[in-house]
Amino acid sequence: MTALILAPPVGSQFSLSCVTVPLDMDAALQGQVALVTGAAKRIGRAIAVRLASEGADVGIHYHQSKFEADEVVAEIEKLGRKSAALQADLCNVSQIQQLFRQTADQFGRLDILVNSAANFLPARLDDTTEKIWDTALDTNLKAPFFCAQAAAPLLKKSGGVIINFADIGCILPWTGYIPHCASKAGVIMLTKCLAKALAPEVRVNAIAPGTITMSGDPSEWEADFIRRAPLHRAGTPTDVADAVSYLVHAKFVTGQVLILDGGRTL
Ligand SMILES: NC(=O)c1ccc[n+]([C@@H]2O[C@H](COP(=O)([O-])OP(=O)(O)OC[C@H]3O[C@@H](n4cnc5c(N)ncnc54)[C@H](OP(=O)(O)O)[C@@H]3O)[C@@H](O)[C@H]2O)c1
Repeated sequence: MTALILAPPVGSQFSLSCVTVPLDMDAALQGQVALVTGAAKRIGRAIAVRLASEGADVGIHYHQSKFEADEVVAEIEKLGRKSAALQADLCNVSQIQQLFRQTADQFGRLDILVNSAANFLPARLDDTTEKIWDTALDTNLKAPFFCAQAAAPLLKKSGGVIINFADIGCILPWTGYIPHCASKAGVIMLTKCLAKALAPEVRVNAIAPGTITMSGDPSEWEADFIRRAPLHRAGTPTDVADAVSYLVHAKFVTGQVLILDGGRTL
């Protein structure tokens, strides 16, 4: 972001009447610490690198993708920021608590929590097993709650922000993904409850993306989405990182769900 003003100190803010203009987005998050869950790959990775490029030190949570998590750490360190790979199975509450103890030990603070880790399990009425139901709900809904609970003391101290991930399946009833849709609908109410419970110190918002083009995903997902979305394209990891950045910086926004879907749900 740029402003037509004569060079004040890097990273400072310039107040013009009631307007505050951030002058150096590259350093806007300098001194802040983010933790991104599921950050070894795909959307979580793009978010982690974006937050680092805006100046934050970033914890890279992973479950099984250690090699890729170490790659992200190296990429962030190249940007001159601190990073560390932190392993946890988020279906296990004691591992969640350990994750946030490690974050506090290694980084000393926490300003931004992005709950990106999730699964996307196909399951219809007839073939949904108890295991599928529990895995979907534990990963997509229970984990963001217990991550928020464990992060709350750190975030209250820093005046931080939580960004949860829903999905347009929180609005559209996909009969091939019933537990997934139920879990992501739960994320919406969880976001609103947490926004009230953690105010005024901590803001809590959610992003509900439509199809984000990721290599390896079935091409028919993207084609079907493009056909239905008024903007006639799928989303990109950059679109999601832009939305995360917006919510990190939007200091008067809490308890909201940003539908990021090219108009697909209209
Ligand atoms: N991709 C899309 O088009 C799309 C659309 C709508 C919403 N979203 C939402 O956006 C977020 C990111 O999407 P994505 O496609 O990048 O996600 P993803 O690839 O499905 O999952 C991200 C990471 O979650 C981690 N994870 C899964 N189960 C875990 C567990 N039990 N404990 C800890 N970590 C676990 C995995 O980490 P490891 O690899 O380290 O095991 C995985 O790499 C998700 O919340 C998703 O629901 C995505």
